[in-house]
Amino acid sequence: MKQLAKIIKESIKYSDSKGDQKDFYTMVEYAAKTPKIADQPPFLEIGTRRGGSALALLKVIEALYPDTVLVTVDPYGNKPYDSKPWKYGDDFYVEMKNLLASYENHIHYHMTSEDFLDILDQVHYWSQRKEHDFSRFSFIFLDGSHLPENILFEFENLLPLLIKGGYLVIDNTDFYEKKIQKHFSSAKNPHLEVTNTKNQTIIKKWCKPTKQTE
Ligand SMILES: C[S@@+](CC[C@H](N)C(=O)[O-])C[C@H]1O[C@@H](n2cnc3c(N)ncnc32)[C@H](O)[C@@H]1O
Repeated sequence: MKQLAKIIKESIKYSDSKGDQKDFYTMVEYAAKTPKIADQPPFLEIGTRRGGSALALLKVIEALYPDTVLVTVDPYGNKPYDSKPWKYGDDFYVEMKNLLASYENHIHYHMTSEDFLDILDQVHYWSQRKEHDFSRFSFIFLDGSHLPENILFEFENLLPLLIKGGYLVIDNTDFYEKKIQKHFSSAKNPHLEVTNTKNQTIIKKWCKPTKQTE
């Protein structure tokens, strides 16, 4: 608990969650609940901005899952952002690179999540002297576009890749008349455990035990 509080304190100042520390804390807390497994698959963040939440995830990895990597995905380039006036341009990209430069286990994809999901099964990375693919992720944080259709596209493509017992955290699900919160509250999937907080949706992937194993 003390370690998580330290991680949050050191990274929240670089995040846009400064106003709502609880959301940042929740994301870090669930990242730290990720099951430890052999050949720990990467952690993934969609939407990186200045790198505050990515820094927190890298610190969680350093403390608890030192053999894995963090993959971040963000197009920057002042791409029009949903229906909002906010711009995420070169300054944020440079800040993110400077902030995370010392982490050799950070891999950034400078593109939209849609493009990343398109190439995901064609790219590999090297870590710990081994070649790895992106067939599984340990933890997923969705904080890029908050348009409901984009979130659902990311979710549908990424959920199959999340490890059993792993968490997928979606930020700002209070946006757009809480469409995403409502969607997951009404979804009846026995393999998912859904928790809606004020601004976030947390999804745990698990499998109901079969009759034989009960
Ligand atoms: C809310 S900010 C991320 C904040 C960051 N996670 C933090 O807590 O510090 C949203 C980011 O999503 C990026 N973004 C916008 N559309 C995107 C898309 N289609 N795919 C991936 N990232 C996107 C923006 O460039 C911006 O940097």
